[in-house]
Amino acid sequence: MTSIRSFAPGRVNLIGDHTDYNEGFVLPAAIPQTTVVEIAPGSGRHVVYSATLRRRVEFDDTGELHDFARYVGGCVRVLTEKGIAVPPLAIRVASTVPVGAGLSSSAALEVATLRALSHLLGLDLSPVAIATLGRRAEMHYAGVQVGIMDQMACALATTDRMLFLDTRSLDYRLLPLPPNSDVIVVDSGQQRSLAGSAYNTRRQECHRAAAMLGVASLRDIDDIGVLHGLPSPLRERARHVVSEDQRVVSATTASAEEFGALMNASHQSLRDDYAVSTPALDALAAFLREQPEVFGARMTGAGFGGACVALARAGTAADVAARTAAHGRDRRWKPVVPP
Ligand code: GLA
Repeated sequence: MTSIRSFAPGRVNLIGDHTDYNEGFVLPAAIPQTTVVEIAPGSGRHVVYSATLRRRVEFDDTGELHDFARYVGGCVRVLTEKGIAVPPLAIRVASTVPVGAGLSSSAALEVATLRALSHLLGLDLSPVAIATLGRRAEMHYAGVQVGIMDQMACALATTDRMLFLDTRSLDYRLLPLPPNSDVIVVDSGQQRSLAGSAYNTRRQECHRAAAMLGVASLRDIDDIGVLHGLPSPLRERARHVVSEDQRVVSATTASAEEFGALMNASHQSLRDDYAVSTPALDALAAFLREQPEVFGARMTGAGFGGACVALARAGTAADVAARTAAHGRDRRWKPVVPP
């Protein structure tokens, strides 16, 4: 067996956050930054070296996984759990996807690893199978009860289109971005970690709300009016999810102006009803929104820190990003797209 090299991009979610684990809709795109994974047969224990972190971790087929081996080793384990024999591996990882910015560095690592393993072992896994296995690795070995958006986006999205995904059926379409617009992504400088956040709590709140409403998931609610009987904060959490699903569907056919207004409304809902924004994200989104070229801006991903995404008039992204970086130098605002 020879060495195999695969890669996967990070993703930015344009709109539709905290909807995926409620079986709703999401609209992410890939970012230009990628994670590259090279796998060759090794001997003895599995060894994974991160050229980005300059750290090496060893792991076995059983026992605890540590550090970034939770993701890589998690991918190996989900295959062995399915009865697939995986020989000892020598793995090298290098990534330009920012870590802790809500841009799916972990899903990019999982998808790149599973792509490489699929080639090396002749498994011929489809993108959807890779996404599903990557999500399982994250849930079982990184301890976060994530939805499927990130792994599907890293497996299927491109930088010049948006991936409209129904997370219940896994049906998807790649759609053009709103006419005459560019995407801007800026890291707020506030690192976030999903495992340490209230992510799993929000998920439980949604499930409790769905159970009280007698539906399988909040995806099944179309009328916000039926939520008024729920106790607080379940009412607010559910109101975010139901309204966010509606915004995603509207966004698929929106003009750039309409898309921007939906992004602004999404941010407000994530801040006020879902309580996952932070003062750092609010300040960055507000600054982006004030720029005359910008149609709208919002936090992106799980929240609790990380990045904001904005939609701007085509051809103005580099200017707006540079202006934002200059304004937020003390706060470590850092443009990710355009880089
Ligand atoms: C994280 C999870 C996703 C999704 C987002 C919020 O990125 O991995 O599944 O729930 O948060 O939209």
